[in-house]
Amino acid sequence: MKGIILAGGAGSRLYPLTLVASKQLQPVYDKPMVYYPLTTLIEGGIRELCLISTPHDLPRFRQLLGDGSRFGVSIEYREQAKPAGIAQAFLIAESFIGKDSVTLILGDNIFYGDDEFYRAFAEFKNGATIFGYHVHDPERYGVVEFDVKGRAVSIEEKPKHPKSNYAVPGLYIYDNEVVGITKNLKPSARGELEITDVNVVYLKQKKLRVQQLARGFAWLDAGTSSSLHDASAYVQTIETRQGIKIGCPEEAAFRNGFLSLKQLEEQISKMPNCEYRSYLAEEVVAEAKRLQK
Ligand code: TTP
Repeated sequence: MKGIILAGGAGSRLYPLTLVASKQLQPVYDKPMVYYPLTTLIEGGIRELCLISTPHDLPRFRQLLGDGSRFGVSIEYREQAKPAGIAQAFLIAESFIGKDSVTLILGDNIFYGDDEFYRAFAEFKNGATIFGYHVHDPERYGVVEFDVKGRAVSIEEKPKHPKSNYAVPGLYIYDNEVVGITKNLKPSARGELEITDVNVVYLKQKKLRVQQLARGFAWLDAGTSSSLHDASAYVQTIETRQGIKIGCPEEAAFRNGFLSLKQLEEQISKMPNCEYRSYLAEEVVAEAKRLQK
Protein backbone atom coordinates (compact mmCIF):
# COMPACT_ATOMS: atom_id res chain seq x y z
CA MET A 1 0.00 0.00 0.00
CA LYS A 2 1.33 3.45 -0.98
CA GLY A 3 0.36 6.69 0.77
CA ILE A 4 -0.22 10.16 -0.64
CA ILE A 5 -0.43 13.34 1.41
CA LEU A 6 -2.16 16.05 -0.60
CA ALA A 7 -0.88 19.35 0.69
CA GLY A 8 -1.44 21.87 -2.07
CA GLY A 9 -4.46 24.08 -2.58
CA ALA A 10 -4.87 27.81 -2.29
CA GLY A 11 -5.45 28.13 1.44
CA SER A 12 -7.41 31.29 0.69
CA ARG A 13 -9.60 30.97 3.77
CA LEU A 14 -6.52 31.31 5.97
CA TYR A 15 -5.27 34.50 4.30
CA PRO A 16 -3.03 36.32 5.38
CA LEU A 17 -1.52 33.36 7.30
CA THR A 18 -0.94 31.60 3.99
CA LEU A 19 0.86 34.48 2.28
CA VAL A 20 4.28 33.03 3.06
CA ALA A 21 3.66 29.52 4.41
CA SER A 22 1.07 27.09 3.12
CA LYS A 23 -1.85 25.92 5.23
CA GLN A 24 -0.35 22.51 6.00
CA LEU A 25 2.81 24.11 7.44
CA GLN A 26 0.86 26.18 9.98
CA PRO A 27 1.07 25.08 13.61
CA VAL A 28 -1.63 22.93 15.11
CA TYR A 29 -0.76 23.51 18.76
CA ASP A 30 2.84 22.19 18.99
CA LYS A 31 3.54 20.74 15.55
CA PRO A 32 3.22 21.63 11.86
CA MET A 33 -0.19 20.56 10.55
CA VAL A 34 1.29 18.04 8.08
CA TYR A 35 2.72 16.01 10.99
CA TYR A 36 -0.81 14.83 11.81
CA PRO A 37 -1.71 13.21 8.46
CA LEU A 38 1.87 11.91 8.20
CA THR A 39 1.41 10.22 11.58
CA THR A 40 -1.95 8.78 10.53
CA LEU A 41 -0.39 7.09 7.49
CA ILE A 42 2.47 5.71 9.59
CA GLU A 43 -0.03 4.41 12.16
CA GLY A 44 -1.84 2.78 9.25
CA GLY A 45 1.37 0.87 8.49
CA ILE A 46 2.27 2.73 5.28
CA ARG A 47 5.96 3.21 4.59
CA GLU A 48 6.16 4.49 1.02
CA LEU A 49 4.82 8.02 0.86
CA CYS A 50 4.45 10.81 -1.67
CA LEU A 51 3.68 14.40 -0.76
CA ILE A 52 2.03 16.61 -3.36
CA SER A 53 2.05 20.39 -3.05
CA THR A 54 2.37 23.57 -5.07
CA PRO A 55 5.65 24.46 -6.83
CA HIS A 56 5.92 27.36 -4.39
CA ASP A 57 5.51 25.32 -1.20
CA LEU A 58 7.18 22.02 -2.11
CA PRO A 59 10.71 23.17 -1.11
CA ARG A 60 9.44 23.96 2.41
CA PHE A 61 7.97 20.48 2.79
CA ARG A 62 11.23 18.92 1.62
CA GLN A 63 13.04 21.04 4.20
CA LEU A 64 10.65 19.91 6.93
CA LEU A 65 10.33 16.18 6.16
CA GLY A 66 13.38 15.35 4.00
CA ASP A 67 13.50 11.87 2.52
CA GLY A 68 11.42 10.54 5.41
CA SER A 69 14.22 8.43 6.93
CA ARG A 70 13.90 10.37 10.21
CA PHE A 71 10.50 8.72 10.49
CA GLY A 72 11.53 5.33 9.12
CA VAL A 73 9.64 5.91 5.85
CA SER A 74 10.46 7.10 2.33
CA ILE A 75 8.91 10.32 1.04
CA GLU A 76 8.84 11.38 -2.59
CA TYR A 77 7.61 14.77 -3.71
CA ARG A 78 5.46 15.80 -6.65
CA GLU A 79 4.14 19.16 -7.83
CA GLN A 80 0.55 20.11 -8.48
CA ALA A 81 0.81 23.13 -10.76
CA LYS A 82 -2.75 24.34 -10.05
CA PRO A 83 -5.35 23.17 -7.52
CA ALA A 84 -7.34 21.23 -10.12
CA GLY A 85 -9.01 18.85 -7.70
CA ILE A 86 -8.23 16.25 -5.06
CA ALA A 87 -8.53 13.32 -7.49
CA GLN A 88 -5.80 14.83 -9.68
CA ALA A 89 -3.39 13.44 -7.07
CA PHE A 90 -3.73 9.98 -8.65
CA LEU A 91 -2.63 11.29 -12.04
CA ILE A 92 0.26 13.31 -10.61
CA ALA A 93 1.44 10.32 -8.56
CA GLU A 94 0.71 7.62 -11.15
CA SER A 95 4.33 6.46 -11.46
CA PHE A 96 4.69 6.49 -7.66
CA ILE A 97 1.56 4.34 -7.20
CA GLY A 98 2.71 1.83 -9.81
CA LYS A 99 0.67 -1.34 -9.44
CA ASP A 100 -0.13 -0.84 -5.75
CA SER A 101 -3.20 0.15 -3.79
CA VAL A 102 -3.10 3.66 -2.35
CA THR A 103 -4.35 5.71 0.58
CA LEU A 104 -4.86 9.42 0.01
CA ILE A 105 -5.02 11.76 2.99
CA LEU A 106 -5.61 15.50 2.89
CA GLY A 107 -2.86 17.54 4.48
CA ASP A 108 -5.25 19.54 6.65
CA ASN A 109 -7.19 16.58 8.10
CA ILE A 110 -6.55 15.37 11.64
CA PHE A 111 -7.71 11.93 12.77
CA TYR A 112 -7.52 10.73 16.34
CA GLY A 113 -9.16 7.67 17.78
CA ASP A 114 -9.71 3.97 17.99
CA ASP A 115 -7.99 0.92 16.55
CA GLU A 116 -10.93 0.03 14.34
CA PHE A 117 -10.05 2.96 12.11
CA TYR A 118 -6.53 1.62 11.58
CA ARG A 119 -7.84 -1.87 10.96
CA ALA A 120 -9.39 -0.55 7.75
CA PHE A 121 -5.86 -0.14 6.35
CA ALA A 122 -4.68 -3.58 7.39
CA GLU A 123 -7.81 -5.35 6.18
CA PHE A 124 -8.06 -3.54 2.85
CA LYS A 125 -8.00 -5.90 -0.15
CA ASN A 126 -9.74 -4.30 -3.12
CA GLY A 127 -12.33 -1.76 -4.20
CA ALA A 128 -12.46 1.38 -2.07
CA THR A 129 -12.83 2.15 1.62
CA ILE A 130 -13.93 5.58 2.78
CA PHE A 131 -15.42 6.80 6.05
CA GLY A 132 -18.56 8.50 7.27
CA TYR A 133 -18.46 10.95 10.18
CA HIS A 134 -21.46 12.61 11.80
CA VAL A 135 -21.19 16.42 11.60
CA HIS A 136 -23.58 19.30 12.20
CA ASP A 137 -22.77 21.02 8.87
CA PRO A 138 -22.68 18.25 6.21
CA GLU A 139 -23.31 20.68 3.33
CA ARG A 140 -19.61 21.70 3.50
CA TYR A 141 -18.47 18.18 2.57
CA GLY A 142 -19.08 15.11 0.44
CA VAL A 143 -22.17 13.58 2.08
CA VAL A 144 -22.94 9.86 2.26
CA GLU A 145 -26.43 8.45 2.72
CA PHE A 146 -26.91 5.02 4.32
CA ASP A 147 -29.77 2.52 4.08
CA VAL A 148 -31.20 0.74 7.15
CA LYS A 149 -28.49 -1.91 6.96
CA GLY A 150 -25.75 0.74 7.08
CA ARG A 151 -24.83 0.34 3.40
CA ALA A 152 -23.99 3.50 1.43
CA VAL A 153 -26.63 4.32 -1.17
CA SER A 154 -25.59 7.79 -2.38
CA ILE A 155 -22.71 10.25 -2.18
CA GLU A 156 -23.06 13.91 -3.12
CA GLU A 157 -20.49 16.70 -3.12
CA LYS A 158 -21.47 19.73 -1.02
CA PRO A 159 -25.23 19.24 -1.50
CA LYS A 160 -27.58 22.15 -0.70
CA HIS A 161 -30.00 19.69 0.89
CA PRO A 162 -27.89 16.91 2.47
CA LYS A 163 -29.55 13.49 2.69
CA SER A 164 -27.71 12.71 5.95
CA ASN A 165 -25.38 14.22 8.53
CA TYR A 166 -22.53 11.93 7.49
CA ALA A 167 -19.58 13.75 5.90
CA VAL A 168 -16.80 11.90 4.08
CA PRO A 169 -13.46 12.74 5.77
CA GLY A 170 -10.31 13.36 3.76
CA LEU A 171 -8.87 9.85 3.93
CA TYR A 172 -9.60 7.44 1.10
CA ILE A 173 -8.24 3.94 0.47
CA TYR A 174 -8.33 2.61 -3.12
CA ASP A 175 -7.17 -0.33 -5.15
CA ASN A 176 -5.09 0.28 -8.26
CA GLU A 177 -8.21 0.86 -10.40
CA VAL A 178 -8.35 4.40 -9.04
CA VAL A 179 -5.81 5.64 -11.58
CA GLY A 180 -7.88 4.43 -14.56
CA ILE A 181 -11.10 5.69 -12.99
CA THR A 182 -9.59 9.15 -12.51
CA LYS A 183 -8.35 9.23 -16.11
CA ASN A 184 -11.95 8.82 -17.28
CA LEU A 185 -13.34 11.61 -15.07
CA LYS A 186 -14.51 14.92 -16.49
CA PRO A 187 -13.81 18.09 -14.49
CA SER A 188 -16.81 19.32 -12.50
CA ALA A 189 -18.60 22.66 -12.94
CA ARG A 190 -15.92 24.23 -10.68
CA GLY A 191 -13.22 22.83 -12.99
CA GLU A 192 -11.92 20.18 -10.56
CA LEU A 193 -11.42 16.41 -10.72
CA GLU A 194 -13.69 15.57 -7.80
CA ILE A 195 -12.88 12.82 -5.31
CA THR A 196 -16.63 12.39 -4.84
CA ASP A 197 -16.91 11.41 -8.52
CA VAL A 198 -14.27 8.71 -7.95
CA ASN A 199 -16.27 7.41 -4.98
CA VAL A 200 -19.49 7.42 -7.01
CA VAL A 201 -17.84 5.18 -9.64
CA TYR A 202 -16.84 2.67 -6.94
CA LEU A 203 -20.33 2.92 -5.42
CA LYS A 204 -21.97 2.15 -8.78
CA GLN A 205 -19.64 -0.82 -9.22
CA LYS A 206 -20.66 -2.01 -5.73
CA LYS A 207 -17.02 -1.87 -4.66
CA LEU A 208 -17.30 0.92 -2.11
CA ARG A 209 -17.18 0.28 1.63
CA VAL A 210 -18.11 3.16 3.89
CA GLN A 211 -17.05 2.67 7.49
CA GLN A 212 -18.85 4.82 10.02
CA LEU A 213 -16.45 6.39 12.48
CA ALA A 214 -17.36 5.89 16.11
CA ARG A 215 -18.91 8.66 18.19
CA GLY A 216 -15.80 9.23 20.28
CA PHE A 217 -13.54 9.45 17.26
CA ALA A 218 -12.12 12.88 16.40
CA TRP A 219 -11.94 14.12 12.84
CA LEU A 220 -10.94 17.74 12.50
CA ASP A 221 -10.10 19.78 9.44
CA ALA A 222 -8.09 22.88 9.94
CA GLY A 223 -8.98 24.92 6.86
CA THR A 224 -10.45 28.04 8.48
CA SER A 225 -9.09 30.32 11.20
CA SER A 226 -11.72 29.05 13.57
CA SER A 227 -11.24 25.31 12.84
CA LEU A 228 -7.46 25.79 13.01
CA HIS A 229 -7.87 27.27 16.46
CA ASP A 230 -10.28 24.49 17.50
CA ALA A 231 -7.84 21.83 16.30
CA SER A 232 -5.02 23.41 18.32
CA ALA A 233 -7.23 23.63 21.40
CA TYR A 234 -8.30 20.00 21.00
CA VAL A 235 -4.71 18.75 20.68
CA GLN A 236 -3.61 20.85 23.63
CA THR A 237 -6.46 19.56 25.79
CA ILE A 238 -5.75 15.87 25.11
CA GLU A 239 -1.97 16.22 25.31
CA THR A 240 -2.03 18.14 28.57
CA ARG A 241 -4.58 15.88 30.21
CA GLN A 242 -3.05 12.57 29.10
CA GLY A 243 0.64 13.41 28.89
CA ILE A 244 0.82 11.89 25.40
CA LYS A 245 1.25 13.46 21.99
CA ILE A 246 -1.09 13.34 19.02
CA GLY A 247 0.56 13.54 15.61
CA CYS A 248 4.10 12.59 16.61
CA PRO A 249 5.50 10.72 13.58
CA GLU A 250 8.69 9.56 15.34
CA GLU A 251 6.64 7.90 18.07
CA ALA A 252 4.26 6.29 15.55
CA ALA A 253 7.25 5.03 13.54
CA PHE A 254 8.79 3.52 16.64
CA ARG A 255 5.56 1.87 17.81
CA ASN A 256 5.03 0.41 14.33
CA GLY A 257 8.55 -0.97 14.11
CA PHE A 258 9.65 1.48 11.38
CA LEU A 259 12.33 2.85 13.73
CA SER A 260 14.27 0.71 16.21
CA LEU A 261 14.84 2.02 19.72
CA LYS A 262 18.43 2.81 18.76
CA GLN A 263 17.33 4.71 15.65
CA LEU A 264 14.77 6.66 17.67
CA GLU A 265 17.42 7.60 20.20
CA GLU A 266 19.68 8.76 17.36
CA GLN A 267 16.92 11.01 16.06
CA ILE A 268 16.26 12.38 19.52
CA SER A 269 19.95 13.21 19.98
CA LYS A 270 19.74 15.55 16.95
CA MET A 271 16.81 17.55 18.38
CA PRO A 272 17.33 20.77 20.31
CA ASN A 273 16.33 20.82 23.97
CA CYS A 274 12.58 21.28 23.83
CA GLU A 275 9.35 19.77 25.03
CA TYR A 276 9.08 17.58 21.91
CA ARG A 277 12.49 16.04 22.63
CA SER A 278 11.70 15.58 26.34
CA TYR A 279 8.48 13.78 25.45
CA LEU A 280 10.23 11.32 23.15
CA ALA A 281 13.14 10.76 25.52
CA GLU A 282 11.38 10.78 28.87
CA GLU A 283 8.06 9.20 27.94
CA VAL A 284 8.44 7.07 24.82
CA VAL A 285 12.04 5.82 25.15
CA ALA A 286 11.96 5.57 28.94
CA GLU A 287 8.75 3.52 28.83
CA ALA A 288 10.16 1.21 26.14
CA LYS A 289 13.28 0.60 28.24
CA ARG A 290 11.20 -0.07 31.32
CA LEU A 291 9.19 -2.68 29.43
CA GLN A 292 12.36 -4.32 28.06
CA LYS A 293 13.58 -5.10 31.58
P1 TTP B 1 -9.72 22.82 0.42
O1 TTP B 1 -9.67 23.16 1.88
O2 TTP B 1 -11.02 22.51 -0.16
O3 TTP B 1 -9.05 23.97 -0.42
P2 TTP B 1 -7.81 24.90 -0.11
O4 TTP B 1 -6.77 24.21 0.72
O5 TTP B 1 -7.34 25.40 -1.42
O6 TTP B 1 -8.36 26.08 0.82
P3 TTP B 1 -9.27 27.35 0.50
O7 TTP B 1 -10.62 26.78 0.17
O8 TTP B 1 -9.25 28.09 1.80
O9 TTP B 1 -8.64 28.12 -0.61
O10 TTP B 1 -8.76 21.58 0.16
C1 TTP B 1 -8.73 20.48 1.02
C2 TTP B 1 -7.35 19.91 1.06
O11 TTP B 1 -6.96 19.39 -0.19
C3 TTP B 1 -6.26 20.90 1.45
O12 TTP B 1 -5.32 20.21 2.28
C4 TTP B 1 -5.64 21.28 0.13
C5 TTP B 1 -5.81 20.04 -0.70
N1 TTP B 1 -6.01 20.28 -2.13
C6 TTP B 1 -4.93 20.17 -2.98
O13 TTP B 1 -3.80 19.94 -2.54
N2 TTP B 1 -5.13 20.31 -4.32
C7 TTP B 1 -6.36 20.58 -4.85
O14 TTP B 1 -6.47 20.67 -6.08
C8 TTP B 1 -7.46 20.72 -3.93
C9 TTP B 1 -8.82 21.01 -4.48
C10 TTP B 1 -7.24 20.56 -2.60
